[in-house]
Amino acid sequence: MSTANGTSANGNRPAQDRSNLIPFSSRLKEGRALAQDVWSIFNAANLPADCINLGQGYMNFAPPEWIKTAAEEALNSVATNHYSHPKGRMRLREALKAHYEPELGRSLDVESEILVTSGANEGQYSVFVAFLEQGDEVIMFEPFFDQYLPSVTFNGGVPVYVPLHPPIGAGKQSAHEWTIDFDELRRALTPRTKMIILNTPHNPVGKVFTRHELEQIAAIAEEHNLLIMSDEVYDTLVFDGEQHVRIATLPGMWDRTVTVGSAGKMFAATGWRVGWLIGPPSIIQPALAATTRIVFCSNSPLQEASAVGIEQAKNRGFLTQQCKEYQERRDILTSAFDSLGMKYTNPQGAYFTLLDISNLTWPEDYPFPPTVLGRGRDFRACWFIAMEIGVSSIPVSEFYCEEHTSIGESYARFAFCKDVDTLKHAVERLQNMKQYLA
Ligand SMILES: Cc1ncc(COP(=O)(O)O)c(C=O)c1O
Repeated sequence: MSTANGTSANGNRPAQDRSNLIPFSSRLKEGRALAQDVWSIFNAANLPADCINLGQGYMNFAPPEWIKTAAEEALNSVATNHYSHPKGRMRLREALKAHYEPELGRSLDVESEILVTSGANEGQYSVFVAFLEQGDEVIMFEPFFDQYLPSVTFNGGVPVYVPLHPPIGAGKQSAHEWTIDFDELRRALTPRTKMIILNTPHNPVGKVFTRHELEQIAAIAEEHNLLIMSDEVYDTLVFDGEQHVRIATLPGMWDRTVTVGSAGKMFAATGWRVGWLIGPPSIIQPALAATTRIVFCSNSPLQEASAVGIEQAKNRGFLTQQCKEYQERRDILTSAFDSLGMKYTNPQGAYFTLLDISNLTWPEDYPFPPTVLGRGRDFRACWFIAMEIGVSSIPVSEFYCEEHTSIGESYARFAFCKDVDTLKHAVERLQNMKQYLA
């Protein structure tokens, strides 16, 4: 306690403000790292207790029993409780090799072309550490997965934003209709451009990039000698018979592409933090050097369980069945928007749908908290829907730079990685939005 004249109550020394005694790195002032992010504003703790959470992108169900059994077995053996090789456990690297070789149409070397990481996130972070020099520019398509931004800026990179252009028109829109303006992409390139981050299937749009789009990106990468970080964490969730094309398989692209995957998305195990990078030794070896210094190795027992998952997934028909179930979940959720007659994006992949909330209205004097005031209109819309309708979602302007906020603020992102009963319950509640539509 200090007295009014600044001396401490029990002595004569002046009271000191000790809250900023040790200054933190200026890096944290970049990339919105210190801003209150959307996840903490729309956290369940801030919303009504019975609010149905379609905001955050994690499942409300567990991984399949047989994979959990593999995890238990791994915990019950000795070696799998200890450090793994920084490259990843051999069993997982072998499983990834068998899974990806036919996908990539080439043989893979488990020693130099596959790297297990602590989730896709840490794998991507390692690539930024390994390849970015101060001032290197990184192209990100908007809306972008929000982790990219601080991961790039912490490593000296400069994000350069290129928006996907949303569809015009009403009702149900295909995610295909979110398009890249390739002239705009070319205009965004400078001699400092180092990398393009591609995300297909895309979070949050649900777009699966077409071969033609990927070919155009590939041509630009070749012309400007760019690294492609292809974030394909949702590659096992592609709907309606769409084809997921891997940019690494296009002519000349293997040598400049790192493909990113995630056991979290593949096996409904987002907390396991197991992911991987696949690419040529010239990309994987520097990323290995980085990941070794960041985490040394990824969590061993769950690497082992992920290996069992990948080994057995095909014979069990697991991935096909899981994909069918996600497609059913998508259709349940979007039926709510169809019956409301609202405009939305029907995703071809991943587990999010974007609802156009431009015509949602609310009373002028609605008591919004300060955290959502002063942000995009979508923050207020999502808050209102959570409070009055009882379903939470995520405002999409969070996934845009300030200059392009106006594109994102027309949308709320709803996640459908939830069980069918939860989604049906949400659909019932969402019907109450009708009274607020202009
Ligand atoms: C596009 C995208 N990339 C990467 C990740 C991170 O994956 P992981 O949980 O394996 O780190 C996510 C997670 O939501 C994502 O949506």
